[in-house]
Amino acid sequence: MIGKLNHVAIAVPDLAAASAIYREQLGAKVSASQALPHHGVTVVFIDLGNTKVELLEPLGEDSPIAAFLEKNPSGGMHHICYEVDDINAALDRMKSTGARVLGSGEPKVGAHGKPVVFLHPKDFCGTLVELEQV
Ligand code: CO
Repeated sequence: MIGKLNHVAIAVPDLAAASAIYREQLGAKVSASQALPHHGVTVVFIDLGNTKVELLEPLGEDSPIAAFLEKNPSGGMHHICYEVDDINAALDRMKSTGARVLGSGEPKVGAHGKPVVFLHPKDFCGTLVELEQV
């Protein structure tokens, strides 16, 4: 069912500082930052050609990455995003296998303007998984 690795997301306490590390030390092309109030994060993307890295900074009072950053104050790998052809078919398959879908359980529009869902890390080897329809 899953296709390509769309991105790896890293939660960071300071997006400007993290962007500078990727730009200056690692020589990456870092996008302009984008605020996503519905997801409680501000993001930048780093396009690596075969996949992307997404840097996430908390936005607003109840950001979903706030607790993660409390446990990992210098930041850390937050989730991994796999591409799927059909988000509703993927959701049906997840529900039928007993996997827990986070939030409302319905797809939301993600950072790339495409429908996404998040799956509980305890059901996927300790890793928060995002599925994105491409
Ligand atoms: Co993501």
